[in-house]
Amino acid sequence: MNKILLSGVKPTGRPHIGNYFGAMKQFVDLQDKYDSRIFIADLHALTSTALIPSGQADSKQLRDDIIGVALDYLAIGLDPKKCLIFKQSDLPQVTELCWIFDCITTMPYLMRAHSFKDAEAKNKDISVGTFNYPMLMAADILIHDSNVVPVGQDQKQHVEFARDTVEKFNRIFGETFVMPEALIMEDVAVVPGIDGQKMSKSYNNTIPLFATDEEIQKAVMGIVTDSSGGIPKNVYAIHSLFRTKDELDQIYSENEGKYKVLKDLLIEDMSNFIRPLREKRAELEKDLPTVLKMLKENGEKVREIAEAKMKDVREKIGVSLY
Ligand code: TRP
Repeated sequence: MNKILLSGVKPTGRPHIGNYFGAMKQFVDLQDKYDSRIFIADLHALTSTALIPSGQADSKQLRDDIIGVALDYLAIGLDPKKCLIFKQSDLPQVTELCWIFDCITTMPYLMRAHSFKDAEAKNKDISVGTFNYPMLMAADILIHDSNVVPVGQDQKQHVEFARDTVEKFNRIFGETFVMPEALIMEDVAVVPGIDGQKMSKSYNNTIPLFATDEEIQKAVMGIVTDSSGGIPKNVYAIHSLFRTKDELDQIYSENEGKYKVLKDLLIEDMSNFIRPLREKRAELEKDLPTVLKMLKENGEKVREIAEAKMKDVREKIGVSLY
């Protein structure tokens, strides 16, 4: 039997090409090798959809973003036959398990979380959910007996927390959970944004993965070029996502100093890459009932797995009577 791979994606709106080359694509590459399960972390998203301090939430937006994640991943090639795509909130067992973990976890321990410290440093009103984020994530991972958890470097500590939780729970209640391993997706290049800094929503320098031709045009024209002539390094860096080094070096040496020509070539390569993905997504979007049906059925499937695991957990902790 293949090892179980699990990862979660927060529904936070349109992905950009940095998300794609940095993380999303790897789920597609890994799906042949593992029993893969990718879920939409809609309950985790509640920690950032600003229930606190504004007291407002955009539930329509969340709903659209959840469906958006499913469309994004299907469009880039996650194959529903190889990978179970589901939604976190379809597994109420996860929040049940999270509570149980809360009761074997101390506050000083959770205060060590980078995510909590960051929130604290920004002097935010911190929700209990934000504080407890790592325990919900531990429950996500452990309820599946996951072996491998592909995550970005920033999530490594959270996987460590899940590992500590396995150790603690198994020590107290007997062998129950499988020890997961983080698969850190760091060898993938940091994708530069149009200003040369790391591509990130917070820097406002992104190129959407499903960009329209006009958006591609506008983004590439906006790439910051140095005035020293020769090779415009920000254009080159983004271009290297779409062509081999040999091809690029030839193109860039033949067109030295011709920024406009080089940008036009990048637009062409980027459009050729993005177009099929965008068209696939648009096609899937036309038939939302099919996508929703897939999510629902997958939710039912994993709920059975989660329920079987929780039966064991409830026995172990002593709350099962009948
Ligand atoms: N915290 C992860 C992120 O922000 C998302 C996530 C939630 C996750 N639960 C998970 C990732 C379980 C891996 C496994 O990216």
